[in-house]
Amino acid sequence: MFLPFSTHFYVDSGLLLFSLYYTLLCLCFLMYCWVLADPVCGYFLKNCTIRGNLSDPSNMKVLCYNRNLEVIPIAIPRKVSNLDLAMNKVSKIEKLDFKGLSNLKILNMPRTQISQVENGALGYLEALQVLGLAHNRLTTLSDYLFQGLANLSLLHLDNNLIATISSSSFQTLSSLKTVNLTKNNLYNMKEVQPIVQLPHLQELYIGSNRFTSFQSQEISNTSIELRLLDLSRNPLGVFRITADVLPYLEVLDIAYCGQLGRMEWDVLNRSFLSNVNRLNLSGIEMSFKRMGMVLQTVNSSLVHLRMQDLLNGSSVLRLEYNNIGNLSEEFLQSCKHMTEVDISNTGLTQLSEFSFRSIEQLSAFKLGHNRLSSVPKATRNLPTLKILDLSFNIINKLGCSDFSNLTGFTQLFLFHNQIPNIKGEFKSLTSLKTLLLYDNQIASMEDGAFEGLVNLTELNLEILCSRDFHFLRTLDISCNYITYVNDGKLDPPPFSHLTSLENLRIFSQRHKGLSHLPINFLEGLKSLLSFQNEFTALTPKLFRPIPRLNSLYLSKARIQSLDFLIAANLSRVTFLQVSKNDITVVNETVLQSLPALTYLDMQDNPFTCGCSDAWFVQWMESDNQTQVVGAGEFTCNYPADLKDTKLLDVELQFCTVDLGLYCYISTTCLVLLTLVASFAYHFLKWHVIFGYYLFLAFLYDTKQRNKLTPHGCQYDAFISYNAHDKPWVLRELLPELEGKQVWKLCLHHRDFQPGKRIIDNIMDGIYGSRKTICVISHRYLESEKLVKRRTYLSWPRAGEQTGVFWQQLRVLLRPCVNLSNII
Ligand SMILES: *[C@@H]1O[C@H](CO)[C@@H](O)[C@H](O)[C@H]1NC(C)=O
Ligand SMILES: *[C@@H]1O[C@H](CO)[C@@H](O)[C@H](O)[C@H]1NC(C)=O
Ligand SMILES: *[C@@H]1O[C@H](CO)[C@@H](O)[C@H](O)[C@H]1NC(C)=O
Ligand SMILES: *[C@@H]1O[C@H](CO)[C@@H](O)[C@H](O)[C@H]1NC(C)=O
Ligand SMILES: *[C@@H]1O[C@H](CO)[C@@H](O)[C@H](O)[C@H]1NC(C)=O
Ligand SMILES: *[C@@H]1O[C@H](CO)[C@@H](O)[C@H](O)[C@H]1NC(C)=O
Ligand SMILES: *[C@@H]1O[C@H](CO)[C@@H](O)[C@H](O)[C@H]1NC(C)=O
Ligand SMILES: *[C@@H]1O[C@H](CO)[C@@H](O)[C@H](O)[C@H]1NC(C)=O
Ligand SMILES: *[C@@H]1O[C@H](CO)[C@@H](O)[C@H](O)[C@H]1NC(C)=O
Ligand SMILES: *[C@@H]1O[C@H](CO)[C@@H](O)[C@H](O)[C@H]1NC(C)=O
Ligand SMILES: *[C@@H]1O[C@H](CO)[C@@H](O)[C@H](O)[C@H]1NC(C)=O
Ligand SMILES: *[C@@H]1O[C@H](CO)[C@@H](O)[C@H](O)[C@H]1NC(C)=O
Repeated sequence: MFLPFSTHFYVDSGLLLFSLYYTLLCLCFLMYCWVLADPVCGYFLKNCTIRGNLSDPSNMKVLCYNRNLEVIPIAIPRKVSNLDLAMNKVSKIEKLDFKGLSNLKILNMPRTQISQVENGALGYLEALQVLGLAHNRLTTLSDYLFQGLANLSLLHLDNNLIATISSSSFQTLSSLKTVNLTKNNLYNMKEVQPIVQLPHLQELYIGSNRFTSFQSQEISNTSIELRLLDLSRNPLGVFRITADVLPYLEVLDIAYCGQLGRMEWDVLNRSFLSNVNRLNLSGIEMSFKRMGMVLQTVNSSLVHLRMQDLLNGSSVLRLEYNNIGNLSEEFLQSCKHMTEVDISNTGLTQLSEFSFRSIEQLSAFKLGHNRLSSVPKATRNLPTLKILDLSFNIINKLGCSDFSNLTGFTQLFLFHNQIPNIKGEFKSLTSLKTLLLYDNQIASMEDGAFEGLVNLTELNLEILCSRDFHFLRTLDISCNYITYVNDGKLDPPPFSHLTSLENLRIFSQRHKGLSHLPINFLEGLKSLLSFQNEFTALTPKLFRPIPRLNSLYLSKARIQSLDFLIAANLSRVTFLQVSKNDITVVNETVLQSLPALTYLDMQDNPFTCGCSDAWFVQWMESDNQTQVVGAGEFTCNYPADLKDTKLLDVELQFCTVDLGLYCYISTTCLVLLTLVASFAYHFLKWHVIFGYYLFLAFLYDTKQRNKLTPHGCQYDAFISYNAHDKPWVLRELLPELEGKQVWKLCLHHRDFQPGKRIIDNIMDGIYGSRKTICVISHRYLESEKLVKRRTYLSWPRAGEQTGVFWQQLRVLLRPCVNLSNII
């Protein structure tokens, strides 16, 4: 094509550089806006899970536990109030890791392999109330470790390797109430002095360390609020209190102390431990006689005494009876106010009827993990008893009068025994709310087995039996043997009486689940809120009777598609767990049919990664109502080349070109266009104008051609020639072409219409002819340069043959030759 500008294009290079620079700047700015336009405004944070309501930061949680993290993630939302980094591999907390998290109240970092915390690293957390650093590798608590944590009230440092505590490390922790230093390497009570003198300290746990003595002269200025001291499992040889350093102590745990054989107990004055009402003396190697003497040193205010692991086997048990009988009046005085007796895990085989009669206020009696073969008579005639735990025994029969007088019972734990049948033994337990009977050998149940349990809200047993529980709220029939051969209706529906049931759980570890669930299986459960199962073949109809459902757990159910939820009308469901299924893609319509959804668990599904997921990925990253747990771990199963790639790492952005990208591209184009236009106008004004006219001419040309094509041409050729060449045209050209070859030519002096504008005549002539013949002579060239760019025929010089010329001209004039060729 012929270019309108070619040679004299000059450039001011400074101006050009400036313009390029300006363009780049614009592009960078646009790129920056593009990045900014995609902020972390949804629930998505790489390697972490955000939970809670984004518009209510007071309870927003960021959960990053168990992710193999080696550094603290960046971009944690500033307004987070609860951050969980448990179970990672962050060995060192760097100075700036928590910068800006001034709203953080709870920081949980157990099992994170921390051995070092840089000075001041925790200082940004000015609102922190709970700090969890348990199960790490800290060895020393240095001077500036906790600086700035003025609001800290709970500190977990258990299971570290701490041996030394610097004297000023706790100085600024004026709000600290509870410190857990269990399982460390502390050996000198003086190390604990900076802690016990904190003004608001209430609970101190220093069990399982290496203290060999506890002596009151080693500590001083103790917090007057200190009410709990856990010294258990230290090799204490001496427990000596000679001054009133623990005046308000209520709970003293020295269980399993004195492993060195014996423990010297020296409490000078009864008043020193006068407020202790809970005392744990389990596992201490002491004779009952000495134990009695120990008990005489505490005031009779004791309401809770634990003496686990003191009685081994039945012979010792008898001795124990005798001892209890023989114990001094003082001991019985000590027991008088007890509300809870815990003699679980002692090898007990029986308990006499009157053992605990003197305890007037007993409300909880824990007898689990023993070798009782029947419900002990000692549990009868305890009118205040509310909770009885008989789990993990070998009870193999229930008697009719076992529970007959216990009308105040609210909780009865009988799980893990050998009970074979039930025939109405619970009849009188009218206040019972929780009855746990699972893991027995129940083979039969008589009619009315659970009659009278009108207030029962939680029943856990293995056999489906549900007639009598109008108030039942939770039913767990996991581990069952139920099977149905098809999904046909049951008559009557199994749960039709359970109109108050809110939670139904049917996990089936023992069987591989049901292949069919009858379509009226859930009929009657009009209050059901939560349904958990592991079955397959769920049809939308199943959900019709349970309109209030808000939580649905369908893990391990071999579900391949969630489409059945669309027709199920689960508009109230807020919690959906469909992990460990065979779901490959998620249809947008499914999530649209769950408008209330706030929690979605789809972990461990074999996703097919492709453009069909693009919307899903975008939705997960941006939706601020629904939290998709573990989204960062969703893994592709198909196509093969993406297998084991994380779904969120697959490049899907080309599938969804969103509005932002359109805006970006069009803005960029607009800017570039403006630049080019102003450039062109500035430097190439005349070329632009010329180009404009050329363009107009092109349009005209096209129009004319369209006009003429259908009619065919008026002439075969239009002859363009200089006035000086007219004689040649009339003498040589005209006779040859019109005479010999009978072409029809258009000559301006002969064929132009008089009175018409010259330019119109020329145009009509050209467009009315199939070809244009230019007669080019030196004179012609003087005004018409462009012919140099075209092929042309030359008239032979004097003396040469003219035949070839005429022959070539004839060929070119033939209709099939391209019209635009200029001869
Ligand atoms: C989030 O909190 C705001 C204000 O507290 C409330 O209006 C909104 O309903 C809450 N959203 C959810 C999903 O709980
Ligand atoms: C959640 O997103 C919607 C639109 O997607 C928006 O109107 C709303 O303000 C967002 N809420 C929060 C708390 O960001
Ligand atoms: C995310 O966790 C993986 C391991 O699960 C780790 O390799 C990666 O570095 C983490 N990414 C970030 C940004 O922390
Ligand atoms: C510390 O606790 C006090 C009392 O609860 C509270 O008024 C103050 O705002 C808290 N400080 C910070 C930084 O949150
Ligand atoms: C203290 O730490 C021990 C050991 O980890 C733990 O068993 C106990 O529950 C903790 N106690 C408190 C009150 O945190
Ligand atoms: C205990 O308090 C007294 C007076 O307040 C002070 O003189 C003494 O140094 C303190 N003892 C310790 C070990 O801090
Ligand atoms: C001692 O008994 C108390 C209950 O009084 C219990 O909380 C604590 O865990 C027991 N301590 C040990 C070491 O078993
Ligand atoms: C023992 O406790 C009772 C309250 O149960 C109290 O009245 C009495 O003063 C206490 N005795 C001593 C010596 O502190
Ligand atoms: C139930 O209590 C009554 C009165 O307190 C008593 O007479 C009866 O023997 C008790 N029944 C059993 C089985 O202990
Ligand atoms: C059952 O519970 C209701 C409400 O909690 C209570 O009023 C009623 O007394 C209870 N019935 C029995 C027999 O305890
Ligand atoms: C779906 O459920 C909502 C409320 O739970 C109800 O208003 C609506 O009529 C139901 N739609 C259908 C088609 O059943
Ligand atoms: C999603 O489900 C709707 C309703 O069942 C269906 O019409 C649509 O074709 C599905 N879309 C895809 C991509 O499968």
